[in-house]
Amino acid sequence: MKVVIIGTGYVGMVTGACLADLGHDVVCVDNDVNRSLLINEGKAPFYEKGLDELIVRNVDFGRLQGSVDLQEAMYEAELSIIAVGTPSIEGRIDLSYVENAGLEIGHLLGQAAKYHTIVLKSTCVPGTTKSLLRKAIETTSGAVAGVDFGLGMSPEFLREGSAVQDFIDPDRLVIGADDDRSAQTIAALYDSFTCKKIFTTTSNAEMIKYTSNALLSNLISFSNEISTLCETVEDLNEEVVMHGLHMDRRLSPVVQGNIISPEILTYLRAGIGYGGSCFPKDTLALQYFARDLNVATPMLDATISVNNLRANTIVDLIEKALGTVEGRSLTILGLAFKPDTDDVRESPGVRLAEVFVERGAIVCGWDPIAIKNAQGLLPNSVDLTDNLTKALTGSELAVIATAWSQLKNYDWSGVCHLMERPAIFDGRSIISRESLPSGVSYHSIGEMPKILDGDMRDDAV
Ligand code: UGA
Repeated sequence: MKVVIIGTGYVGMVTGACLADLGHDVVCVDNDVNRSLLINEGKAPFYEKGLDELIVRNVDFGRLQGSVDLQEAMYEAELSIIAVGTPSIEGRIDLSYVENAGLEIGHLLGQAAKYHTIVLKSTCVPGTTKSLLRKAIETTSGAVAGVDFGLGMSPEFLREGSAVQDFIDPDRLVIGADDDRSAQTIAALYDSFTCKKIFTTTSNAEMIKYTSNALLSNLISFSNEISTLCETVEDLNEEVVMHGLHMDRRLSPVVQGNIISPEILTYLRAGIGYGGSCFPKDTLALQYFARDLNVATPMLDATISVNNLRANTIVDLIEKALGTVEGRSLTILGLAFKPDTDDVRESPGVRLAEVFVERGAIVCGWDPIAIKNAQGLLPNSVDLTDNLTKALTGSELAVIATAWSQLKNYDWSGVCHLMERPAIFDGRSIISRESLPSGVSYHSIGEMPKILDGDMRDDAV
């Protein structure tokens, strides 16, 4: 199928490259000429595991190209996918990019050689496709949705860092359409996938995406709230408590004698909070959507508020364990919002660094690939490096903020020689106390802070 992708951000680019790899003829259109040039040179406009290889292969095959010319791209195409940004304006979703894409497509629709179907992939509040987008296209085209052109909504469930794999091997595909022909056209695009396909209305498709992200965010905040309780009571340990929870057969079914641990259980573990370009934005957008409908959302409100407070809760815990951070040299290990990405949007590690600076600490931030992106976000006083040895040298406390494999596999035996007063706070529970030499204070999230050997608590409360 000849496909146009509008918007070469993370969703659009991964979708475009993967569809090309499945054999579709794809043109990725973006106003940013540099992005188009990069694609045509076989390069990804941002880091995502496996994406470069996919782009270069499909550009070479002639199945993928970047362009700024929507008119030319749409001329012979059967389907356009809108994957433009839906940013937040003070918490409320900004649908202006979606609307503009609809208006522009509408202008060009009359010149398209074939019946054209437009599919929204950007995460949007329920009703966006059938109202705002439909109206935008109909206004500038004079055509009627479901009669003169197809219209649908098919959300993505890609996780940064494993987006290519998630696209290739999806758990489900949601096909939202308000007429049969549109549904069948979208289904044809996904013909080679054997996973469960959910056919529904465009509004349900939109709501499925929000509900998924709201639940995952909720599980994280719930776990973090339980963790705060465990951190307050002696002898409680969040890891043990959660393991006990996970073994409930309703969460970990036993299949042919084997306990199956579904991936969702990782969201039922404490950490330093959720971040990224999706959970924070989507939970807020859903909250505003409900507010506009006069519907109370106490669960969603609590999810957001626990997460907003998380960095301060963590720093309070650290101060309880180790004394004030004021004037201390501290290291944040991990600035990307999660491993295997250089994305620092709404990153909990960045937020932690900010709170440390607010409380007067001297902060160094380490990340293997996200330093460049973190630069613009953090105060100038934060020293940034991708060199782990340098980051730990002279530090009095290192906080693990991102579960990077480099940290899991790091040889911590020499850490006492590097750090001024070796203390590790493991905000992701990724290293074991046993992997550290004696003389290092180790504190993991989810248990009451203890004063350990080598602590820096000279102002103990
Ligand atoms: C998330 C969803 O997982 C995807 O299904 C969805 O398609 C995507 O948003 C989207 O809306 O586009 P993503 O933000 O890439 O994907 O990453 P996640 O791996 O879900 O992580 C989100 C945040 O939750 C990160 O800050 C991460 O550190 C945190 N997290 C994740 C945890 O604290 N614990 C976990 O077990 C997993």
